[in-house]
Amino acid sequence: VRTAAVIPAAGRGVRLGPGAPKALRALGGTPMLIHAVRAMADSRAVSLVVVVAPPDGAAEVKSLLESHALPDRTDFLVVPGGESRQESVKLGLDALPPGYDIVLVHDAARPLVPVDTVDAVIEAVRDGAPAVVPALPLADTVKQVAPAGPDEPEPVVATPDRSLLRAVQTPQGFDRAALVRAHETVKDDVTDDASMVEQLGLTVVTVPGHEEAFKVTRPLDLVLAEAVLARRRL
Ligand code: CTP
Ligand code: MG
Repeated sequence: VRTAAVIPAAGRGVRLGPGAPKALRALGGTPMLIHAVRAMADSRAVSLVVVVAPPDGAAEVKSLLESHALPDRTDFLVVPGGESRQESVKLGLDALPPGYDIVLVHDAARPLVPVDTVDAVIEAVRDGAPAVVPALPLADTVKQVAPAGPDEPEPVVATPDRSLLRAVQTPQGFDRAALVRAHETVKDDVTDDASMVEQLGLTVVTVPGHEEAFKVTRPLDLVLAEAVLARRRL
């Protein structure tokens, strides 16, 4: 069974602060997107990577892919993205040629995910799960709050049992048909692809996530990412 990876990379990165689109910012001198592409292409199972580029940045992304060393056994496609992550993933799925029955969706903003995590996700889809997410236990206690007016303190309404909560990462892995159907059916705003498959009533399973698969979201995350890269290069 052939596996493709779709990499949504079309976001601005508002929370990271002013600058180039997040996926094009440098990490250890190399654009974050290139790290994410390599992380997928390093898995021997992945034979196609579809990059969903910033809407006006497809040409730039194509030339970045040409100017960085990437495995020969992997094919690459670049398509322009949309207004939301969900739209961008859909545009990537629409560009997938036939013959790829397993699809990974991986955030460009998670440049440092280890290949063992990628392989574990693929393995679980091969074993029959329609959707697979890498998941980690939470370090912080989580509170549910009620909305409050401006300048009002938010009241806590519940404390869910932390031992049953997980923070989920990418790549998320899917049976292609299930993911395509989810994107055609679910119209609510969601923050990950697996939740759309959940809404179809299909089972989503977890595999162990990895600390280094964290999402680069805020400026402090860049500091951590640079430190992880520096440690790898020792
Ligand atoms: N993404 C995308 N298309 C969008 C929005 C997001 O492809 N319209 C991608 C981002 O490029 C990123 C991934 O979805 O790789 C996860 O999104 P997030 O971390 O929220 O990135 P941004 O949306 O770029 O950041 P922010 O929300 O801070 O603007
Ligand atoms: Mg976002």
